[in-house]
Amino acid sequence: MKTIGVLTSGGDSQGMNAAVYATVRSALSRNLTVYGIHHGYQGLINGEVEQMTAKSVEGIVHRGGTVIGTARCPEMKTVEGQKKAVATLKKYGIEGLVVIGGDGSFQGAKVLSTQYGIKVIGIPGTIDNDLAYTDYTLGFDSAVAVVANNVTLLRDTMSCNDRTCVVEVMGRDCGDIAMFAALACGAEAVCVPEVGYDPEALAQLVLHNAQMGKKDNIIIVAEGIRSDGTLDKGREADKVVNDLLKRIPELNVRGTVLGHLQRSGDATVFDRRLGVEMGDLAVRCLVDGKTDRVIGIKNDAVFDEDMLFALAKKKQFNKRIYELANNLVKY
Ligand code: ADP
Ligand code: F6P
Repeated sequence: MKTIGVLTSGGDSQGMNAAVYATVRSALSRNLTVYGIHHGYQGLINGEVEQMTAKSVEGIVHRGGTVIGTARCPEMKTVEGQKKAVATLKKYGIEGLVVIGGDGSFQGAKVLSTQYGIKVIGIPGTIDNDLAYTDYTLGFDSAVAVVANNVTLLRDTMSCNDRTCVVEVMGRDCGDIAMFAALACGAEAVCVPEVGYDPEALAQLVLHNAQMGKKDNIIIVAEGIRSDGTLDKGREADKVVNDLLKRIPELNVRGTVLGHLQRSGDATVFDRRLGVEMGDLAVRCLVDGKTDRVIGIKNDAVFDEDMLFALAKKKQFNKRIYELANNLVKY
């Protein structure tokens, strides 16, 4: 293996830059040529390719976003698009490709490998933490920190107004950001898609807290809480507010959507370290002739695993964290 490429794809996440940095530096230290492909599969199709040097990735380990850009690219799902992507890889002599992204991005990598014989390694980059085979995905820890820190700020105004605040967070169909953030900031309740949302129970909790003398509540809701699959990003907070007002018309309540703030700002130290370790392992896999592998972390150790095997796993819901976040007495 003499030449490799790296791209970031799908929703960006903190830690992607750390993974790009390590992929480039690790490749260079093994005398490989390394290309950065801008804007994910779209850039691969369009030929947006740049040869990377040590300087190209200087000072980026901590930074949010991704310096090589990302995109969602429907064209990659078509044979025509895939052929263009492969033509770019051939043009630059790229034999191995490191794909940093989520489940969708890994599907694209799988196609490049199985249909076109490109060696691919996947690094899990998504704030959602929705991949079953790994304990953590890049960006999850940083997104949780953003939520926890912002909810701590919200407490100031909510508590002095005796207000309840419904805070909507990201995660698609996965409740991990909501649950871990709820623990980290002592929220009064958390609602996640894996369990489903019970408006009556939530209203009872708010009434109970009021009877106990606590009139300010933080309720964290994951954007996918309607477990019937009717994901309505950016609107769930308002719906929950309305559900509460229907049951408690006099309730002093507001909704807040944290939105893309969760993908912004510096990566936490955990995500930086994870990105660096994962980028380096991806390069070592390619140098060892491995393909169709995904990188993950379990019990604090970074590992690689067969891509198809890993993607077939079903994510286990973390009931312990959910119950801890909801059941600690808060008054
Ligand atoms: P994520 O990687 O964060 O899950 P997406 O689901 O949006 O994000 O996927 C990112 C990109 O991966 C898509 O825009 C598309 O270019 C590519 N992709 C997703 N699914 C497939 C597929 N079945 N075949 C080929 N490419 C795919
Ligand atoms: O998959 C990451 C994620 O941030 C989800 O949590 C969220 O639903 C989605 O991407 C938002 O996508 P976009 O950036 O395209 O609005």
